[in-house]
Amino acid sequence: MAEHTVDLLYRKLADELASLINNGGFQAGDRLPGVRHQAQLRSLSIATVIAAYRQLEDWGLLEVRNRSGFYVKAKPSAVVQPPRIVVTTMRPAPVTGQDMVLQLIKAANNPAIVQLGAAVPAPEFLPTRAIEQALTRAARNQRVRTSNYEFSPGAVELRRQISRRLADSGCAVHPDNLVITNGCQEALTLALRAVTTPGDVVAIESPTFYGLLQVIESLGLEALEIPTNPRSGMSLEALELALSRWQVKACVVTPNFSNPLGCCMPEENKRKLVSMLRERRIPLIEDDIYGDLSFSHARPSLLKGLDENVILCSSISKTLSPGLRVGWIAAGPYQDKVEYMKYVLNLATTTIPQLAVADLLESGQYERHLRRARGDYAQAVARMTEAIIHYFPEGTKITRPEGGFVIWLELPGEIDTFVLAHKALELGISIAPGPIFSASQKYRQFIRISCACVWGNRVERALVALAGLIQQGNNPARPIPPIRGD
Ligand SMILES: Cc1ncc(COP(=O)(O)O)c(C=O)c1O
Repeated sequence: MAEHTVDLLYRKLADELASLINNGGFQAGDRLPGVRHQAQLRSLSIATVIAAYRQLEDWGLLEVRNRSGFYVKAKPSAVVQPPRIVVTTMRPAPVTGQDMVLQLIKAANNPAIVQLGAAVPAPEFLPTRAIEQALTRAARNQRVRTSNYEFSPGAVELRRQISRRLADSGCAVHPDNLVITNGCQEALTLALRAVTTPGDVVAIESPTFYGLLQVIESLGLEALEIPTNPRSGMSLEALELALSRWQVKACVVTPNFSNPLGCCMPEENKRKLVSMLRERRIPLIEDDIYGDLSFSHARPSLLKGLDENVILCSSISKTLSPGLRVGWIAAGPYQDKVEYMKYVLNLATTTIPQLAVADLLESGQYERHLRRARGDYAQAVARMTEAIIHYFPEGTKITRPEGGFVIWLELPGEIDTFVLAHKALELGISIAPGPIFSASQKYRQFIRISCACVWGNRVERALVALAGLIQQGNNPARPIPPIRGD
């Protein structure tokens, strides 16, 4: 218990200082108060402060200078520019070019390949032991129930727990107004099916998660790509313009740590977005799959908390395990329709994982895991970013996400990242090429890298090899430089 309290205190201090550093409260080169002084200032033990400073060092935010103290490190963002916002004519269009994705997804299941492509956390980031125990408990304690269908809307224990967590985020959703789904992808499918018919236009962030593009494609909808800022999310000016020109039937956004940009929409923009769509009676679909993975300790708010008509979709795929296939949808006015559509689609979500997730939420294990995972992801992103700055050609631009675990890179020169991704796969490395994040295959010079992999020689060598391919792509005469350590 005492150990647990120290654990909480040091992480709280580390989170607080990290967010001050990230928000510019401390600048590169600033000296943090010495350990003893900090302990006095905050009425903490010296051990707690040392543990917090070590954590900041691990995250790449702090460095110890010989005998002179703890200093804020130069942030990569001070040296590296964020990628550009690609602005082209906005016009609704069917989704094309998603065939590459299946190859990428298959690579994610091949242990021989260095996984930098799919946004799937390595098992080391997930509470695999706790999940195993919760699954066993569910199978043992609920034998009769687990051998039957858990018909839509899904296990009430899980819906109650989700409802409680939503209330903690300022969002009142009764358990009866939730439907459990096979992950967030199914929730997005149900949401779009509930509010559109084939041929309708859907406004989306650009770049966006390719799974959403596939849902749009499979439902025969047209995508209207709205330029999205790597710091503040979907451009509301561009959206306003688009809404005045096209008959948009739904808008899908990931306001908290979008994939692939990792940005968090400011509060003011969230309010504007909600009221802009409410005025026009356009259904707003919110994907919050990364919302629990903020690097600073405050969980960002939900659009659903501003308007109960927002359709909220989420899952535990990025926090507990994508393999459990547990997600949910709070469909507001479309609740009955969604509940019935889910039943027609596949009758039910598997019972045991639902009960296991409910158990992990209720016991507090989920929350404890999150406290660790958020720091682990922040550290993984910082480390990957530093290595990329070190190895990749000058002119590479990188996002600085505030949560989640993916980064978005703009590569210098005339590189075609479709070709790059194929060549990388031949070398045993998977990356996600930019065009799959666009309905019309923009972003030929961009790639997304997932940082939730176990850091080590293998990943570092993969980055060196990738850097070589990028150099070679821009200058075919130039050979790939040797891999360090060979
Ligand atoms: C933004 C976003 N939404 C939805 C999904 C799909 O989630 P799930 O695996 O829960 O279906 C993903 C997975 O990568 C994602 O990044």
